[in-house]
Amino acid sequence: MVKEKEINHTDQMVAGARPDAREFVVDASRGEHSATGSARTERDAQNWIGLDRDSSRARIRLIITSYDSIIVRTYCRIRFVILNLRFLEELDQYIPRHGAVVDFGCGFGLFSLYFASTARGRRITGVDLNEARVKAAQLSAKRLSLSNASYTAGNATDYLVPNGLNCVYMLDLLHHIPQESVAPLLQRIYDALLPDGILLIKDVDTVPAYKRLFTLALDRVMVGLEPIHYWPSRELISLLESLGFEVYSHEMRDILPYAHRLYICRKR
Ligand SMILES: C[S@@+](CC[C@H](N)C(=O)[O-])C[C@H]1O[C@@H](n2cnc3c(N)ncnc32)[C@H](O)[C@@H]1O
Repeated sequence: MVKEKEINHTDQMVAGARPDAREFVVDASRGEHSATGSARTERDAQNWIGLDRDSSRARIRLIITSYDSIIVRTYCRIRFVILNLRFLEELDQYIPRHGAVVDFGCGFGLFSLYFASTARGRRITGVDLNEARVKAAQLSAKRLSLSNASYTAGNATDYLVPNGLNCVYMLDLLHHIPQESVAPLLQRIYDALLPDGILLIKDVDTVPAYKRLFTLALDRVMVGLEPIHYWPSRELISLLESLGFEVYSHEMRDILPYAHRLYICRKR
């Protein structure tokens, strides 16, 4: 059954309770905010210690400073503004804290590094077409001592999805996948998930039009004339349901006019 409504997206959970305590949060008082470059980051990464969730911002800063390139760091800062802390915390609560997770279209790995740091019982594999991004993600995982995050270059549409997955997520990937390849990809993900396994999709909705156009303008800056297909949410929900997922979907409200939409899908 689809429950679809606009909510303050931190209000709703479908996949169990949010854990009270975070396992690994960087200590904000250690001065890593000003860290740049690998040496400082590696040393600080040894200091990931158990603290409360208020240190999530410091965790994000630590991830950003783990990249060498100022361009990548700037891109990551922007991504962490677009998918801000509230979004991250909502996503984090749906990803099982233990087990195998795949991040399709992982980019530079910033979100997988974040989710790998909040629960060390997750074994996250990031997959991305872009080899340079995958290499940057691998290096950052090493620098941050996140041995539970690994990366591989590949195309999501023909990637051999391993069986027995607890969770798969795709953040702003689906609109880059050729339309005709989406159903087969979702089917393979469904088959690979364990019963009750979770699929999270964060993508761009087609309504309201002004938000879609704003998001499209930014996407065009990033990918030029490459094909982009935003799925109307009802169409995507129906496809997911036809494959056997139970779907809960809501708009993700932001101060910026992005047409964010989250789909939380459980294998039934
Ligand atoms: C908008 S970026 C999002 C990156 C990351 N998920 C994030 O939220 O920051 C889309 C990413 O998907 C990757 N990508 C596009 N098509 C892909 C495909 N068919 N298989 C795997 N990755 C793909 C791109 O290389 C890019 O890194």
